[in-house]
Amino acid sequence: MTVKEKLKQLLNDNRGQFLSGEQIADTIGCTRGAVWKAVHALENEGYKIQAVTNKGYCMAEENDIISQEGIKRFIREGVISELHVFRITDSTNLQLKKLAASGAPEGTLVISGEQTAGRGRLGRSFYSPSDSGIYMSLLLRPSLHTSDAIRITTAAAAAVAETLEELTGRKTSVKWVNDIYIENRKVCGILTEASFNVEFGGFDYAVLGIGINVYEPAGGFPEDISGIAGAVLRDRAADMRNRIIAGVTERFTDYYRDIDSSSYFESYRSRIMWIGKKINIISPAGNTAAVLKDIDSECRLIVEYPDGTQGVVSSGEISIRVNE
Ligand code: BTN
Repeated sequence: MTVKEKLKQLLNDNRGQFLSGEQIADTIGCTRGAVWKAVHALENEGYKIQAVTNKGYCMAEENDIISQEGIKRFIREGVISELHVFRITDSTNLQLKKLAASGAPEGTLVISGEQTAGRGRLGRSFYSPSDSGIYMSLLLRPSLHTSDAIRITTAAAAAVAETLEELTGRKTSVKWVNDIYIENRKVCGILTEASFNVEFGGFDYAVLGIGINVYEPAGGFPEDISGIAGAVLRDRAADMRNRIIAGVTERFTDYYRDIDSSSYFESYRSRIMWIGKKINIISPAGNTAAVLKDIDSECRLIVEYPDGTQGVVSSGEISIRVNE
């Protein structure tokens, strides 16, 4: 371990307490000058460290920096096989696809604190500013039939919803298929991208990408999404993002290992928004009015059209019909 890594561990283990430069240097086995340098290096990574003459250094309680060791502190052994953490990258889905193509194992997790080309559903982009969100991608090599691919995203939506509720106490809903909402604001989007094996049929791999707006970005959300996007929390909380990453990955993995039995289904269904409400089914051909009745065991929408007939919808998007 480098001096910086040892210092990070020591200050983390003593959050909220001052340790003198001398004490730190003795514990780590380095000079006080090296301690000072390492403190600056950590500050450059975004850690808030108080330095007070005659008292020393203190890691602020509410530090919430995504890091390898931070995630590993909260995640159960055996859940992930490889962990790659970037401060900034183009897209964690793109990075993971490259790793998948070169043989990375199932359970490889790629995280970034910022994305410059975050990808969303239906060819959209996903706003991924620094220091406020979680951008994570998990590699799967499913033995599922490709027609059951929807189970991956819906299990992930259930895992995110449960984790956010447990860690923050805030009530979540799911906008079909897999957007997570809190108080009518979208706080999380999920994009699963797959590569199929033409020769054998079935998946070569799937990349499960999850983006969560944990805090409001500095300067707020851009105008084009400011009416929809929201943040999970107003105030920063100690290690919250590392805890969420660990919680979501653990829960999803438990559901995924049991995917044939769809054990996530009731958790997913119970959070579906707008049941009994008038909605628009949005497709390239235009909008269709319907009432959302329920979802079936394949996570398809069961809807009723204005002429009284019923139908199922398995892809696309929905919106609420207001003032009706
Ligand atoms: C959507 O709401 O349309 C889906 C958004 C998915 C965003 C996540 S962030 C991590 C992963 N990497 C990406 O480029 N996209 C997904």
